[in-house]
Amino acid sequence: MLRQNVWMVSVAMALSLPGAAIAADTSSGAAKAASSAKGANAATLERGKYLVKIAGCNDCHTPGYMALAGKVDEKQWLTGDTLGWRGPWGTTYAANLRLYFDKITEDQWVKIARSIETRPPMPWFTLREMTETDLRAIHAYATSLRSAGGPAPAYVPPDKEPKQPYAQFPSPPPKK
Ligand code: HEC
Repeated sequence: MLRQNVWMVSVAMALSLPGAAIAADTSSGAAKAASSAKGANAATLERGKYLVKIAGCNDCHTPGYMALAGKVDEKQWLTGDTLGWRGPWGTTYAANLRLYFDKITEDQWVKIARSIETRPPMPWFTLREMTETDLRAIHAYATSLRSAGGPAPAYVPPDKEPKQPYAQFPSPPPKK
């Protein structure tokens, strides 16, 4: 029951992502973020933080974020999660994006975001809808947080039983 609820929330959220990313505005108040590792200005960092919140990145890539209705300390943001997402593709885990973004430049990220295709439920297709400015803001914000935490659990193939906890998607997927 709980598993299914988690799944439904995630699908609803994933479906809302493209609109959310496009409808983003910059009225999120005074940019208070003080400084960035890469020298991004405060407004860019504030925009990145805003996008990470409204485009769903925190929902999956921050431990407990959905279950706690977003009440997770910023120190934990984007450090990845041990909740598995199990479906016909196997079991995937939302990566530690603090480690991930620290290893790639902003330019590399812009290229990757245009071509990346992951397994579900990562909404890789919505990254392609984002403007380059927004992609750069996400990178600037994520790197300003600096590396933290360890890597997420490794991908588990479909024929292997993953450890708990995991959210189960229907298998086979619903017919169109
Ligand atoms: C519904 C859950 C979900 C949401 C929302 C989500 N992700 Fe993911 N993400 C995942 C999962 C799960 C993976 C691992 C996919 C795999 O193993 O193939 C992943 C993988 C990634 C990767 C690849 C990491 C690597 O090591 O190659 C990047 C980059 C990424 N996500 C960025 C983002 C960004 C940026 C956002 C917000 C715009 C976001 N994700 C939103 C679940 C999510």
